[in-house]
Amino acid sequence: MKFSVFEVLKSASQRLAAEKIENPRLDAEILLAHVLKCRRLQLYVDSDKILPLESVFRFNELINRRLERIPTAYLIGAKEFFGLSFAVNENVLIPRPETEILAEFVGEFLRSRGGGKFLDLGAGSGAISVSILKFVKNSRAIAVDISEKALEVAKFNAKKFHVDERAEFFCGDLFFPVEGKIFDAIVSNPPYIPTNDLKTLQSEVKREPQLALDGGIDGLSFYRLIISGAKKFLVDGGVLAVEIGFNQSSAVKNLFEQEKFVEIEIFKDLAGIERVVIGRN
Ligand SMILES: C[S@@+](CC[C@H](N)C(=O)[O-])C[C@H]1O[C@@H](n2cnc3c(N)ncnc32)[C@H](O)[C@@H]1O
Repeated sequence: MKFSVFEVLKSASQRLAAEKIENPRLDAEILLAHVLKCRRLQLYVDSDKILPLESVFRFNELINRRLERIPTAYLIGAKEFFGLSFAVNENVLIPRPETEILAEFVGEFLRSRGGGKFLDLGAGSGAISVSILKFVKNSRAIAVDISEKALEVAKFNAKKFHVDERAEFFCGDLFFPVEGKIFDAIVSNPPYIPTNDLKTLQSEVKREPQLALDGGIDGLSFYRLIISGAKKFLVDGGVLAVEIGFNQSSAVKNLFEQEKFVEIEIFKDLAGIERVVIGRN
């Protein structure tokens, strides 16, 4: 039997669609490009090309695992964030495009000051801190995560993008590892899903670490700890910037107000959802 690129993509997309996998064609293309070690665009150029049987088998294996609802990013071990291809595995949250506005805001803030030192609380894959370090040359970061395995991924990504000499990594609970240190900015995309909502999540999201998702009973536990603890770690005029979940903006803004942050602002993501809250010390 001989199979062309066109044929394997068509049949895989149909199998994924039949199981109601979102974006079946896109996922099939990403997985085939991964097997063939080429860009997605090349699949169109090579549409009639006959594939070696070994590639067809490897591709089918990946499609079978995708049908088990393993996210595509875990299957290929990578996810694009801020134009960079971050290494990911099942120990880290898969970076989301909406988080880019958080990284962008903090990056721009530091750039406007000619650089500076920032803290990334709950660093996960390092998507936020590594992107900021990459785009703001005179910046330095401390990345904290409670998961040692997540930090391994963040360290790998810092090396991959040649910013590891400007980054330190600490395993621990929120501010504990940085006691006595001061930052120009603190950034965090903390776990923010209310515990009871975890069971209603898409099967793919349930494959991500619970530690990265569970925001306590009302989803706000980490905001209370981060916003009430942040001031003593910020320089005068420094900023705290956090990502928020759906419908959390007014509760989080209140917490910023209670702690006497000033110039509090809320930013929306591209879908028009309030996604980032910032406040200045
Ligand atoms: C929503 S994920 C964000 C990951 C990454 N910053 C991103 O935006 O893609 C939250 C991260 O917080 C970490 N985390 C959970 N509880 C923590 C705690 N008490 N102290 C530090 N990090 C924690 C999790 O391990 C996870 O990596």
